[in-house]
Amino acid sequence: MDFSLIDFVRRLPKAELHLHIEGTLEPEMMFSLAQRNGLILPYASVDEVREAYRFSDLQSFLDVYYAGAAVLQTEQDFFDLTMAYVCRAIADDVRHAELFFDPQTHTARNVPIETVFAGIAGALRQARSDYGFSSRMILCFLRHLSEEDAFATLDEALPLRAEYADLWVGVGLDSGEVGNPPEKFAGVFAKARELGFRIVAHAGEEGPPSYIHGALDTLRAERIDHGVRSEEDPELMRRLALEKIPLTVCPLSNLKLCVVPHLREHNLAKLLRSGLRVTINSDDPAYFGGYISANFIQAAEALALSRDEIVQIARNGFLAAFVTDDQRSLWLRDLDRAASL
Ligand code: HPA
Ligand code: ZN
Repeated sequence: MDFSLIDFVRRLPKAELHLHIEGTLEPEMMFSLAQRNGLILPYASVDEVREAYRFSDLQSFLDVYYAGAAVLQTEQDFFDLTMAYVCRAIADDVRHAELFFDPQTHTARNVPIETVFAGIAGALRQARSDYGFSSRMILCFLRHLSEEDAFATLDEALPLRAEYADLWVGVGLDSGEVGNPPEKFAGVFAKARELGFRIVAHAGEEGPPSYIHGALDTLRAERIDHGVRSEEDPELMRRLALEKIPLTVCPLSNLKLCVVPHLREHNLAKLLRSGLRVTINSDDPAYFGGYISANFIQAAEALALSRDEIVQIARNGFLAAFVTDDQRSLWLRDLDRAASL
């Protein structure tokens, strides 16, 4: 183990742009929230939960992940979940995080959307005032559900927009990718765009490069979440480089969901060296075995990333963040300083 690499990565300022807050639910918290809410989990112990985290693909993970999210019921539950993530992120010197959240996972269980917003935003506002931690919220539509359901979710959330204007800046698209192409959601993303929301979408995690084209051309996504299958389409690679479209890559997620058999075979370095704006993120860290620094460190070791490349990836995170250029410049200056120590 290269302790100097670990130290170097940990103290680099970072932005995390691909993080599902429901995916930060650690087994210990799953048990404590189940107890608080009087629920019985289908697992006897924390170890048994961890044992169940053997996934063969995205869907095998999503089944476990949606079941786990059922312990989230009250505003306090969402607050505690979010605050626990923020504390881990701060330990990794994350300065700014853009959190995905899936209202449909909760409203389907009769948890009001107001409860979801209030809990997450309450923690993020406290983190901003107590620790100077910067964040945004990105509402994701579940792509295995209908576009009509996505429209209903947007309509339910819109009355909350003014109250959460400091945090809720965008919409995204997640859940089971194959068979649910971006075009299925053309209408709801057009509406979100007209309303002035920033747009992101998962594409090219398991789905083909045509889904990345669809996310860019039909949804007008400004960033692609994952995007690792872009490598199969040289024309798309040229476009992503030319247009500086950020890819929010999540190496440990891709490993755990068998997108790659080993991190040594991950194409992150190849994408980066082809001039793409690659960022590193943790996706669902409680399920995939590591937060953002672990993703940086394990990818750097497996792919022999240079220090300059590691810094470039951290830089890309700030370049791709939905913040003002003034704020961005301050973090980039801090990053340069940390990198030169
Ligand atoms: N892909 C799609 N949907 C998700 C993911 C992911 O990696 N994590 C949580 N929901
Ligand atoms: Zn994701």
